[in-house]
Amino acid sequence: MTNYRALYIREDDNGDFTQSIVNRDTSDLPENDVLIKVQFSSLNFKDAMAAHGNRGVTREFPHQGGIDAAGVVEQSASDAFKPGDKVVVTGYDLGMNTPGGLAGYIRVPAAWILPCPRGLAGKRSMQFGTAGLTAQLCINKLTQMGLTPDRGQVLVTGATGGVGSIAVALLANAGFEVVASSGKAQQTQWLKDIGASEVIDRAELSEFNKRPMLKERFAGAVDVVGGDTLGNVIKSLKAGGSVACCGLVQSPAFDATVLPFILRGVNLLGVDSVEIPLSEKQAAWKQLGRCAKLPAIALINTEISLKKVPEALANLFAGGVTGHTLVKIGR
Ligand SMILES: NC(=O)c1ccc[n+]([C@@H]2O[C@H](COP(=O)([O-])OP(=O)(O)OC[C@H]3O[C@@H](n4cnc5c(N)ncnc54)[C@H](OP(=O)(O)O)[C@@H]3O)[C@@H](O)[C@H]2O)c1
Repeated sequence: MTNYRALYIREDDNGDFTQSIVNRDTSDLPENDVLIKVQFSSLNFKDAMAAHGNRGVTREFPHQGGIDAAGVVEQSASDAFKPGDKVVVTGYDLGMNTPGGLAGYIRVPAAWILPCPRGLAGKRSMQFGTAGLTAQLCINKLTQMGLTPDRGQVLVTGATGGVGSIAVALLANAGFEVVASSGKAQQTQWLKDIGASEVIDRAELSEFNKRPMLKERFAGAVDVVGGDTLGNVIKSLKAGGSVACCGLVQSPAFDATVLPFILRGVNLLGVDSVEIPLSEKQAAWKQLGRCAKLPAIALINTEISLKKVPEALANLFAGGVTGHTLVKIGR
């Protein structure tokens, strides 16, 4: 039994949710194959949803949050891992209904764990975290549909967020001309510094437009926003273009007609970073490992300690964060 510190989300008698850093014990963790001492985690919109009581993410409280983790194996009942192995865990049920990585320890099934990807030791894997993995999976779907830099501009919505900012950096590094859509006009220069060629106000895309199609503009798009923004993105794709849809910060619902699909042959591509096979995650992590030293990745990340997480999650939930937040777990 080992004591550790963890982000703990509680529901009070009024149905309100509070987040605090508490002492827990490894004996509190579920009976799974591998005990991991967590060194780094990161903050994601889904963590903020769980912290604010979203039952679609976490059914029961109190709950130890954190949907990703990088650390070192301490005990293993699986032949696949031994004490001392450096590992990464993202998605599946981590931080949803299984105690998560914003904590000193997790105990998870071996089937959720990847050896630390090459080039991503220490904090580097969690500088990408779930956000980076998702951005890479979005880009892969777009390129599998034939997107190449010569086809034209690629839009990224929610561009100052975790997924959005890493998508901007990875796309720019791959030679794409990136248009960043953001609600934070004050971050225009920052978006250009991480790789955007052009920055547009997200208000240009966020209102419902009753026209079934808009001017052809983007060869591809990474959309984290959903809602009417996604509807407008689909209507603004060039013929044969694609949008990778991975998020819902504006809304999970949107109005659409079939017209852009049947008149322009555009593609709506769903991206899930959570339940896909581990081998697909591993392939994407390998790609991220080649981008570990991009200066934009350092620029995108802010490192905080575990004790700052409750405040940072409130800020993230309110849409106030720029970039990606790396969390050093410490002792
Ligand atoms: N499918 C998957 O596997 C997967 C994986 C990871 C994340 N996601 C989803 O992707 C989305 C983004 O996650 P994240 O961790 O990157 O979140 P995040 O860091 O909070 O970024 C979201 C960004 O969206 C923009 N935004 C916020 N509220 C908005 C609104 N009402 N309308 C339009 N734009 C708004 C903001 O950027 P600007 O101020 O620059 O506009 C914000 O920074 C979430 O919905 C998350 O659940 C899905």
